[in-house]
Amino acid sequence: MLLQLTQIEKRFGGVTALRSGNLQVQAGEVHLLMGENGAGKSTLMKIVAGLYQPDGGSFLWRGQPVRLTRPADASALGIAMVHQESLLAPHLTVAENIFLGALPSRGFGLVDRRRVHDEAARLIATHNFPLQAGWRVERLSPAGKQLVEICRAIHRGSSLLIFDEPTSSLSEAETREVFRIVGTLRERGAGVIYITHRLDELRSLGDRVTVLRDGETVHTAPMTECTTESIIQHMVGRPVTAIYRREPLPPGEELLRVDRLSLDPLLKNISFSLRAGEIVGLAGLIGAGRTELCRAIFGLDRPTSGSVSVAGRGVAIRSPREAVAAGLALIPEDRQHTGLATALPIAYNITLAHFDEVARMGFLRRAAEESVSRRFIQQLRIKCESPRQLAGRLSGGNQQKVAIAKWLVKQARVFLFDEPTRGIDVGAKVEVFETMDALARAGAAVLMVSSELPELLQVPDRILVMRQGSLTGELPGRTTQEEIMRLAAFSQEASA
Ligand SMILES: Nc1ncnc2c1ncn2[C@@H]1O[C@H](COP(=O)(O)OP(=O)(O)OP(=O)(O)O)[C@@H](O)[C@H]1O
Ligand SMILES: [Mg+2]
Repeated sequence: MLLQLTQIEKRFGGVTALRSGNLQVQAGEVHLLMGENGAGKSTLMKIVAGLYQPDGGSFLWRGQPVRLTRPADASALGIAMVHQESLLAPHLTVAENIFLGALPSRGFGLVDRRRVHDEAARLIATHNFPLQAGWRVERLSPAGKQLVEICRAIHRGSSLLIFDEPTSSLSEAETREVFRIVGTLRERGAGVIYITHRLDELRSLGDRVTVLRDGETVHTAPMTECTTESIIQHMVGRPVTAIYRREPLPPGEELLRVDRLSLDPLLKNISFSLRAGEIVGLAGLIGAGRTELCRAIFGLDRPTSGSVSVAGRGVAIRSPREAVAAGLALIPEDRQHTGLATALPIAYNITLAHFDEVARMGFLRRAAEESVSRRFIQQLRIKCESPRQLAGRLSGGNQQKVAIAKWLVKQARVFLFDEPTRGIDVGAKVEVFETMDALARAGAAVLMVSSELPELLQVPDRILVMRQGSLTGELPGRTTQEEIMRLAAFSQEASA
C-alpha cells in the first residue's frame, strides 16, 4: 500500500473542511476521488502534497507514519500534485515554472538556464503540448497554465501523482494526452489520484473510486462495482438524475445581432443573432475563437470590422463599461483571475455588479449587500459559512459559482456565459442551467459557450459551431455529438 489516510481531520478557523477523510491508494492504481463542490477533495490532497498539515488522523506512506510540513517533503517522497487553481509563478517562464524549486544548478547556486530551457522543451515536445519553454506564464490561457502544472508534476512526481481536475480547461487532444500520461504512470507502477466532475472520465480511467461528502469518506469501491448513478447518489446523499431537460420558449424580439464581425486573425466574418428567451450554445474546439468572440462582443478586444446591435440599436462597444451600459454581461472563462477578488468577502464579490441596488439603500448598504448575496448563495447553492467569508477561501467550484453570481446583473438583457459549468459538480450544474433558464424566461438572451458535448445537447435551443475563427454552422438543440464534431473539427482533421 502506497498511501493510507485514516480519519483525517482539517479545520480552517471555524470551518471544518474534513472530519473523516479515508483513502487508500496502491501502487499501479488509478484512484478517482469524487464529491460535490466543497466536499473536501482538494483539502485532503493538499495534505498529501504537504501544503496543509492535518489536525487529526493518521497518514501512512508505504506503511510508515509520516509528517509532511512543506511541499518539498512530499517531493522527496515522489509525491506531486497538479493543482486545481494555478499555483505557478506568473512572471517566470514556462521552463522556470516546471523546474521551480528543483532547478538544475551549475554549482555555487547558479541556475543552469540552458539546461532548464532544454529539458523543459524536451518535456513539452514529448507530450505535444502547445507551449514554448520561454513563454511567460502570465500570458498563458487557463489551459496553457494547466499544461505547465502537468509538466511540473510529471517532472517531480515518481511514486504518486495527484491530478485535481486536470482536464477542465483542456482540448480533446490535450485531454487524451493526459489520459495517456495517467495510463503510462499506472504501467510504471506509480499511484494516481484523479479528481474530476466529468462523469465521462470515470469509466475510461479509474480502477477504484472514493467519494467524499461534507468532509467524510462515504464510499470506496472498485470501479467495476459502481454505476454512474450510484456514484452521484453517494456524492449528493440522495437520488438525483444528472439529466436536465429544458422546456424551450417561443423566442421573442431580437436582442443581440452580430454582423460580419472580424478580428484579425482570430475571428472571421461572424454573423448571428440571439432572441429574448433563447439559450444558444456555442460549440467548437479549444482555440476555435469562442472566448475571443465573447470578448470582442463585450468590448474587451477591438474588432477590426463588423458591427454589434443590442435590441435593435447599433452600439459601438469599446469597453466592458460600455457593454454593461448597453445591457450585456460576460461571465468569463478564467474566473479565478478575471472574475473574482479573492481577498475580499463573498458578499462584496457578488454585489460588485449589483452596486446600484445595494448603494441605493444608503446606510443599509451592508445589510443589503448581505441579503442580495444570500439570495444568490441559496440560488446557486454556494457552500460557505457566511457572506462575509473571503471568496478565496471557498473550494474551487464554489468560487466559480460566486463569479457567476457576480455577473447575474439584473439589468443585463444579453448574457454571454463562457464555460459556465467548468469545475462545478453534477448537482450544481443543474442549478446553473436553471439559472440560465430563469434569465431566459425573464426575457434575456443567453449565449452558452461549452466544450461539454453532453450539456450542449441538453440545454440550448440551438447550437452555433465555430472552427478556426469562423462560424461553420448552426444546429438544432437536440442534435448529435457527431454533428457538432463534424462542424467543429472537420477541416482540422483534414489538414492534420
Ligand atoms: N484555506 C481555507 N480557508 C478556509 N476554508 C477553506 C480553505 N480551504 C478550503 N476551505 C473550505 O473547506 C471546504 C472544502 O474545500 P475543498 O477545496 O477541499 O473542496 P473540494 O471538494 O475540492 O471542492 P471543489 O469541487 O469545489 O473543488 C470548503 O467548505 C471550503 O470553503
Ligand atoms: Mg477542489
